[in-house]
Amino acid sequence: MPWLVPTTRRHFLASAAASTAALAHGLVPPSALAQPEPRTDPADSPMRLLILGGTGFLGPHQVQYALERGHTVTLFNRGRTNPHLFPDVEKLVGDRNNDLTALEGREFDAVIDNSANIPRWVRQSCEVLQGNIGSYQYVSSISAYASHDIPDMDETADVGTLDDPTVERVTGQTYGPLKAYSEQAARDAYPDTHIVVRPGLIVGPGDPTGRFTYWPVRIDRGGETIAPGNPTDPVQFIDARDLARFQITLAEDNATGTYNATGPNHPLSIAELLYGIRAVTTSDVRFTWVDADFLAEHEVYPWSNLPVWVPPTEPMRGFGSVNCDRAIAAGLTCLPLADTARDTLDWFKALPAEHQRLGASLQPDKEQQVLAAWHARG
Ligand SMILES: NC(=O)c1ccc[n+]([C@@H]2O[C@H](COP(=O)([O-])OP(=O)(O)OC[C@H]3O[C@@H](n4cnc5c(N)ncnc54)[C@H](OP(=O)(O)O)[C@@H]3O)[C@@H](O)[C@H]2O)c1
Repeated sequence: MPWLVPTTRRHFLASAAASTAALAHGLVPPSALAQPEPRTDPADSPMRLLILGGTGFLGPHQVQYALERGHTVTLFNRGRTNPHLFPDVEKLVGDRNNDLTALEGREFDAVIDNSANIPRWVRQSCEVLQGNIGSYQYVSSISAYASHDIPDMDETADVGTLDDPTVERVTGQTYGPLKAYSEQAARDAYPDTHIVVRPGLIVGPGDPTGRFTYWPVRIDRGGETIAPGNPTDPVQFIDARDLARFQITLAEDNATGTYNATGPNHPLSIAELLYGIRAVTTSDVRFTWVDADFLAEHEVYPWSNLPVWVPPTEPMRGFGSVNCDRAIAAGLTCLPLADTARDTLDWFKALPAEHQRLGASLQPDKEQQVLAAWHARG
């Protein structure tokens, strides 16, 4: 996997140089650079780490960083997704749905549960591992919150519920509440040693959803493009490499509790995002700002057509400004936007043409139609 670039000291020095350039251009407030360097040397106390999953998008970044830190990694999955990855890592084969035999009697210092979206899966894994592990870290989502209408929302906000909490069908409506019930299953099983991480949109090289990726790809193509909404609308996302490092840090530090985990570690507007991405290309792109109402009237929607951006209006006033102070205090660090944008674009362009798919995008002809209508309005 070409995007699994070692996170060496050289890499972080390059990132620091990119940050300084962004700072000079006024893209990043000075406070954003005042973050600790992620740990890059081998850990003093190597852990035995179990990752439930590990071979999709986030998992490989966790595995790579854990190995760099000198931890011993074991994966548990069905052996279907990217089975060629990590030939030297122990792989336990099973199914969260009905076969956890391979986990019986095994001992680990820390567990990271990526693959559960329903509480039964969490309950059953916790049960089979009970008494044999240190911490149990569940990967939830900011979708767990009942509402996204609260700017600067922290971890104490209410989470979603379902009329029937036993449903197991994961849909757009049930995903968030099922994440919340899954979190609770981890807390109930490990009251003192659970960790719950609630990521926002996870992005970067390897992202199969093609959401954030839309912007580097579109901007790199050049020409006139729609810049959505108000230039000051806030946006948030987290580079999978930052999230992976943060999660391993939490496990190393025997942290406990619940953490919102999105980025960057400073307010970022949609204008800063788009111009920041443009800065890593040689594109002649020109942004035409089109307001949210006009886009809706022309059936161009946030998220599904123009990803990352969600207008900060009811009922989503807080979606782009989730409070991550607790995670930052616990060691969350964020790569500069320049790194995320450039690495994502390089990764995407290196994919075979048939795999260069964007899950969320605005088709070029539709974009040109909407731009023409915008210019023609009275
Ligand atoms: N993408 C986002 O923007 C976003 C945002 C917030 C939260 N999240 C959460 O982030 C987490 C990370 O997702 P990821 O896909 O990147 O993790 P991952 O650990 O890299 O990949 C998913 C793993 O789950 C395994 N798996 C799937 N079904 C299984 C089953 N029935 N039994 C055992 N293993 C199974 C897959 O392997 P096999 O197929 O071989 O079994 C694969 O190794 C998810 O919980 C997601 O809800 C994502």
